[in-house]
Amino acid sequence: MQEHEKQFFMRDPWKFDPNFQRPPRPNDELGFDTRSLHAGFHPSEDMERFRAFVPPIVPSMTYPYKDFDHIPYPVYARTKTPTADILEQRIAALEGGEAAVTAGSGSQALFSLIFTIARPGDNVVTSLNTFGEGYKQATNIFPERCGINFHFVEDPADPKSWDKQIDSKTRLVWVETPSNPTLFVTDIKAVADVAHARKVPMLVDNTTATAALQRPMDFGADIILLSITKFMAGNATVLGGAIVGPEDLTEDIRWNTTEFVGSIMQPFDSWLTLQYLETLSMRMDRHSTNTQKVAEYLAAHPKVSLVNYPGLKTHPQYDLSQKQMKSSGGMLSFVAKGGIPSARTLMNGFDLIVHAVTFGTSRTICMHPRTITHEHMTQQERDIAGIDDGLIRLSVGLEDPKDIIADLDQALSKI
Ligand SMILES: Cc1ncc(COP(=O)(O)O)c(C=O)c1O
Repeated sequence: MQEHEKQFFMRDPWKFDPNFQRPPRPNDELGFDTRSLHAGFHPSEDMERFRAFVPPIVPSMTYPYKDFDHIPYPVYARTKTPTADILEQRIAALEGGEAAVTAGSGSQALFSLIFTIARPGDNVVTSLNTFGEGYKQATNIFPERCGINFHFVEDPADPKSWDKQIDSKTRLVWVETPSNPTLFVTDIKAVADVAHARKVPMLVDNTTATAALQRPMDFGADIILLSITKFMAGNATVLGGAIVGPEDLTEDIRWNTTEFVGSIMQPFDSWLTLQYLETLSMRMDRHSTNTQKVAEYLAAHPKVSLVNYPGLKTHPQYDLSQKQMKSSGGMLSFVAKGGIPSARTLMNGFDLIVHAVTFGTSRTICMHPRTITHEHMTQQERDIAGIDDGLIRLSVGLEDPKDIIADLDQALSKI
């Protein structure tokens, strides 16, 4: 158990420093797969802490004082537990950030970040290419309840469009790439340069790619948002999220927001995630290989009018995605000709593919964004964002790709 040397219970608000460089860590030298097995806990090096081959689950919600003058850390489970601490260190090492703080979900990680760094009258610059609950926080919850506004860029492919929305009250530029559900790819470096020129930090939501396929901090991002619920855990058995960034930021979130809502990931969920991260890059490679095959099949199908997948040469940001990503990931979306009636017939017609609300699972899942996740958008916003009535999001799993394609084939024959 560490002792906490810094002042805690309340922290000074984080101030963005565009010249911040995180201090080097010994595990910087190690490869990605090695870090996903050893960062935060090593069976031989950590023998004094825990004599175990596998990182421990510590379900204790409070931690004993050695004596009156020494505050233990973790002190209480609203802010940190030993198992979440290992997970946070591992996630920070995978993304290349200084530190991480977990949250009860990805949506909550976004909420905690904005709640921590923005004040009434401030704003956040983003685009319509974000997940549904992010959009709802941006258009509804934060403006109405906290007086924090969101500026949506007109053309997310144009860095000048991002610049145009930044003003003296902008506290954050928030990019999701590739985006859910339309797989729009934003130029991380170009937008980071714009944000930094205006002394504003840049957040990249790396949920759909994960650090196994994309490292936004290498392109200038300052902060990373993750839903751990998706590919990071990989099979819909964990709900969790994280923010990665400078330690002064993650501790501002932890002590000035998380402390009051008690929302770090629970010990068992943290532990499960540590097990799942051991295979992250292997899983992501297979997700990408399978999705590429499915995307090519769909692109050639006469009943499909559009396939959104960065691995297809027809994708508008194909070249950019090749620069930013190791491979194109496990999610695509496609438009079935015939709008909602066709989407309904198709989705009711699947045998193997499961209709459910999440993605990034080992099993293939489909979902209809128009009626489930992006139903709050206006029709005009959905048109701009490319959320067609016939759009189906497909999270391609780890089954044999021929079986996924056979299921699509038989269901498409019904429309
Ligand atoms: C890109 C992205 N980020 C964050 C989230 C939120 O994650 P969670 O479901 O863990 O709250 C989602 C959820 O769909 C998402 O798609």
